[in-house]
Amino acid sequence: MVIRFADGKATSIDYREVAPAKASRDMFLDEQGNAVADRSRVGPLAAGVPGSVAGLLHAHKQYGRLPLAKVIAPAIALARDGFLVSVEMARSFQAASGKLSKFPATVAAFFGSDGIPPAEGERLVQPDLAKTLTLIARSGADVFYRGPIAELIAREMQASGGLIARGDLERYAPKERPAVTGTFRDYQIVSMPPPSSGGVALIELLNILEGFPLASYGQNASRTIHLMVEAERRVYADRSEWLGDPEFFPVPVPGLLSKAYASSLRSGISETRATPSSSIQAGQPREYEHSETTHYSVVDADGNAVSTTTTLNGAYGNGQVVAGAGFLLNNEMDDFSAKPGSPNMFGLLGGEANAVAPGKRMLSSMTPTIVAKDGRTVLVLGSPGGGRIITTVLQVLLNVVEFGMDVQEAVDAPRFHHQWYPDSVMIEEQGFSADVVTALAALGHRVEVVSDMGDVHAIQIDPATGLRLGASDPRSDGMTLGY
Ligand code: DON
Repeated sequence: MVIRFADGKATSIDYREVAPAKASRDMFLDEQGNAVADRSRVGPLAAGVPGSVAGLLHAHKQYGRLPLAKVIAPAIALARDGFLVSVEMARSFQAASGKLSKFPATVAAFFGSDGIPPAEGERLVQPDLAKTLTLIARSGADVFYRGPIAELIAREMQASGGLIARGDLERYAPKERPAVTGTFRDYQIVSMPPPSSGGVALIELLNILEGFPLASYGQNASRTIHLMVEAERRVYADRSEWLGDPEFFPVPVPGLLSKAYASSLRSGISETRATPSSSIQAGQPREYEHSETTHYSVVDADGNAVSTTTTLNGAYGNGQVVAGAGFLLNNEMDDFSAKPGSPNMFGLLGGEANAVAPGKRMLSSMTPTIVAKDGRTVLVLGSPGGGRIITTVLQVLLNVVEFGMDVQEAVDAPRFHHQWYPDSVMIEEQGFSADVVTALAALGHRVEVVSDMGDVHAIQIDPATGLRLGASDPRSDGMTLGY
């Protein structure tokens, strides 16, 4: 969660999951030393110690204005009285039913007595979740980390061979950290620090791209896409080498964010030829260090802004509902690097910086971001999408500040993505002309057509009038609301 207050001060709250004390570096490898994908993605070993309850309650305690019970009441009502399943949700339950059916408590929580995923228009009621939320509303985070819910999580883990124990839950603490900041032309960027790679990668990308007149080349013109892709493959190589939990690995943040480092990377980019990823290595950002040193966007009446990205990682997390407590566990352990060179579920590579270790937070790509100009918030945005989050945020941000679109146009526009490896430019199926695809191929890019990327919820504020424009991504469920 990234917060920019109306007076210009900013902060971030890291409530990332952590690896349990019993986690170990090679826990996702088989006897031959190969990564076993399912182990870090489905079931008990995939779950990190949950952080959301602690993080959201911390935000409420430090900065909230309404009583906790009032804030949680709508969620309790939705769980207790149910809600109608949307087309999108029915589709996603169907798609995940193989994974979810492995866990009896999950089937009981979502699929009802017939064991069939709910269809569009059916009412989904979650009484156990309502109980859990009511306990939290009454007694705070302790019920989850030390009290009855902690007991249910520990029991669930013991029964299924998982690692999370009472001690892990007791030790969990959210961390408030200074947000990372940068500039792009005359905009100030405020975003998420490590253990997310999101803010660092976004600012590094913007620093490289600042050196090109993208607006004059045009949004999604082949020349613009080429330059953005060239920046992306370099920044994702750095992500793979240099980013991880800063309490376990010395992440060279000032170097990665330095304009001089970005210039050095920019000088390796050809305007007329794609660089194969095999010839790109992570850079040497340390030389540039100085010795000093589901997304939602909200803006209140006073201009305080909150940008939050939150996740269980893959759809329905590890698939496992905690019996009696009514919620799913995450599969964030897959965000660690199981082994150098072995891709995670988003195809991202990592190494030492992001190896599994007890108590360590796994690297994220989440990029909750706030953009300000002349000291005032002008844009609040973020997205899901795994490794594609960073480039989704980059594109929507540039669409507004560089290409002059309004926020809904910026969110709607077709997206592309490059992450170093695989060495291909992924483009959304809809919206790119054959001409652009041909021109990219002629520059030496391998182009791969993929389905939708990201699900952005953003707010643009007109600095002159204070008028707020909300944008909700047409690629998925979600909406814009004003009170
Ligand atoms: O922290 C991360 O980068 C991932 N766990 C985010 C997962 C995600 O966005 C899944 N949604 N598409």
